[in-house]
Amino acid sequence: MSESPLARRDLDGIRVLTVSRPDKLNALDSATLDALHAAFDQAAEDASVRVVVLTGAGPKAFVAGADIAEMADLRPTEGRDFSLRGQRLMRRIETLPKPVIGMLNGFALGGGLELAMACHLRIAADTARLGQPEISLGLIPGFGGTQRLPRLAGRAATLELCLLGAPISAERALQLGIVNRVVAADELEAETMKVAAQLAQAAPLALRGALDAVNVGGECGIEEGLQYESAQFGLMFSTDDMREGTRAFLERRKPVFSGR
Ligand code: COA
Repeated sequence: MSESPLARRDLDGIRVLTVSRPDKLNALDSATLDALHAAFDQAAEDASVRVVVLTGAGPKAFVAGADIAEMADLRPTEGRDFSLRGQRLMRRIETLPKPVIGMLNGFALGGGLELAMACHLRIAADTARLGQPEISLGLIPGFGGTQRLPRLAGRAATLELCLLGAPISAERALQLGIVNRVVAADELEAETMKVAAQLAQAAPLALRGALDAVNVGGECGIEEGLQYESAQFGLMFSTDDMREGTRAFLERRKPVFSGR
């Protein structure tokens, strides 16, 4: 039996998913895309999972892109299907009803940057390199990069990354708004798990409401987005967690959220 391209471990409500093809710098072939999709489906359904951390195995790469060996001989319709398969995964992650943190431990190139951009938060090692180098293969980004990068970093930076293809440093990615934080490589895991632990303690229905409002609001006009926000805000008043959170504040104690 071939080894699974994805490792999974759980710790106090935090599910850590690790893309595990280090000898191929964790490149995304079809089997890895499918394993990731199944893993995110499971994480969505498992109430014990409050937050997901996504990373890559080995010291060198988060994910160095879609698998070039698998793509090399594809025909046009197969290329489109491969793109759609990747896009479906990214959308699955982006619309997950719980937060996903991308822990960028090295190269996040092509499909690797697209995977990172589908996460809700990104924390990068100062040694990470990010880019959309598809142009050097005679390709363009196909897992959502042309759509998510401008939403994060604007048109100028997107065109620079996609047209020139050169990777950028984690620090530059931070300036461009592509990542949320940059930390020393040897502190990456501890820092990321600290953020994950905070999210694992937060009110899950409020996290979900915020994720939904940002996702829906990002795709519609301001009026519709604001209405959606109000509806989500109102919905929070039906939760035990909202009562607990407001009471705990007034009673000067730490809230304990139940997820109801
Ligand atoms: N797809 C398939 N295999 C990949 C890969 C990818 N996207 N990225 C790296 N690999 C493989 C290499 O082929 C090599 O395999 P091998 O040892 O069997 O020959 C192995 O991973 C190590 O990569 P290597 O290129 O030797 O490492 P490096 O340190 O010299 O360079 C990179 C690292 C990331 C600069 C380089 O691997 C690279 O440019 N990768 C492709 C990035 C890319 O274009 N991604 C977008 C794809 S659409």
